[in-house]
Amino acid sequence: MTDASERRSPNAEDAVAVVARGLSKSFGKTRAVSDLSFDARSGEVTGLLGPNGAGKTTTIKMLTTLLPIESGNASIVGIDVARRPDAVRRVIGLAGQSAAVDEKLTARENLELFGRLYKIPRAERMKRVDYLIERFELGDFADRVAETYSGGQRRRLDVVASLIAAPPVLFLDEPTTGLDPHTRTELWSEIRELADRGTAVVLTTQYLEEADRLSDSIVIIDEGVMKASGTSADLKRDLEREVLEIHVADRKDLTGAAASIAGVGAESSADPEGTRLQVPLTGGARQSLAVLRGLDADGIAIADFQLRKPTLDDVFLAMTSRGGRR
Ligand SMILES: Nc1ncnc2c1ncn2[C@@H]1O[C@H](COP(=O)(O)OP(=O)(O)OP(=O)(O)O)[C@@H](O)[C@H]1O
Ligand SMILES: [Mg+2]
Repeated sequence: MTDASERRSPNAEDAVAVVARGLSKSFGKTRAVSDLSFDARSGEVTGLLGPNGAGKTTTIKMLTTLLPIESGNASIVGIDVARRPDAVRRVIGLAGQSAAVDEKLTARENLELFGRLYKIPRAERMKRVDYLIERFELGDFADRVAETYSGGQRRRLDVVASLIAAPPVLFLDEPTTGLDPHTRTELWSEIRELADRGTAVVLTTQYLEEADRLSDSIVIIDEGVMKASGTSADLKRDLEREVLEIHVADRKDLTGAAASIAGVGAESSADPEGTRLQVPLTGGARQSLAVLRGLDADGIAIADFQLRKPTLDDVFLAMTSRGGRR
């Protein structure tokens, strides 16, 4: 699969399908979404990337009329979300984190029902249902009622149901969470095909790889606030500094290594499960020498180190609270 940014061919006909301006929503004292603005274009996948509690679902719910917009405004293919919710519902598809699946119906019946809701003519509907059942391998359980499904099977049906109609705008809230790797790959290519046929896809994800590979444009949010936006290449370029990655020989040395690195004026973030420390080189490559000399002087054994270009992970860590640098 090629990088999403390489595939992207900005063209004058790309229409802005989703416009969000200054969206905000609070729950009590929690400011779930704060002054969020972004666009999503037809024919593109727009990824909302953020950790747990970032405000992704709240944003999707406001855009899909499931939650009232507290302040700010939004439109979907030119239709104002707050003023004309019924009209908006007719041009969108949604797969949410809370399944919209009818427990008493089989997968086939659920898909049929969605097809009828979208008023797809019978012959076309049957074809589409059969195609999706085959493509996403729902065959084994397509004729059993949904209440007997495993978590992953239910999830698959929920997502597939949103793919029935190919509406102008499709919202997918963490579509691949809970799916096995094979189904995830199938879903990626189905989403790509829908976008290539002109659908504006807005998806949320916590997976950097997913945002990187699938999204034409990415909006990073954390604690309800937009931290950055652009193509994944843009985002990586913004964070131009190289990264020194250090593997300490002994995991027990992680804390000591971080202190040593701080001692020479550099920052680091550690992977708590492993032995790696990431040191963004804000002071250029020379800084790596100071860091390595410092570790040596402090008696910390290094198994391995490398200098590398930033990944989207680095951007994400640098811009969200997960980086632990606030
Ligand atoms: N109905 C609600 N009542 C109170 N607080 C809420 C409600 N819905 C969301 N929140 C809070 O708003 C914030 C954003 O939640 P949201 O569900 O939008 O995050 P998210 O990015 O979708 O997270 P996840 O990746 O876990 O799905 C969180 O702090 C959450 O606890
Ligand atoms: Mg969510």
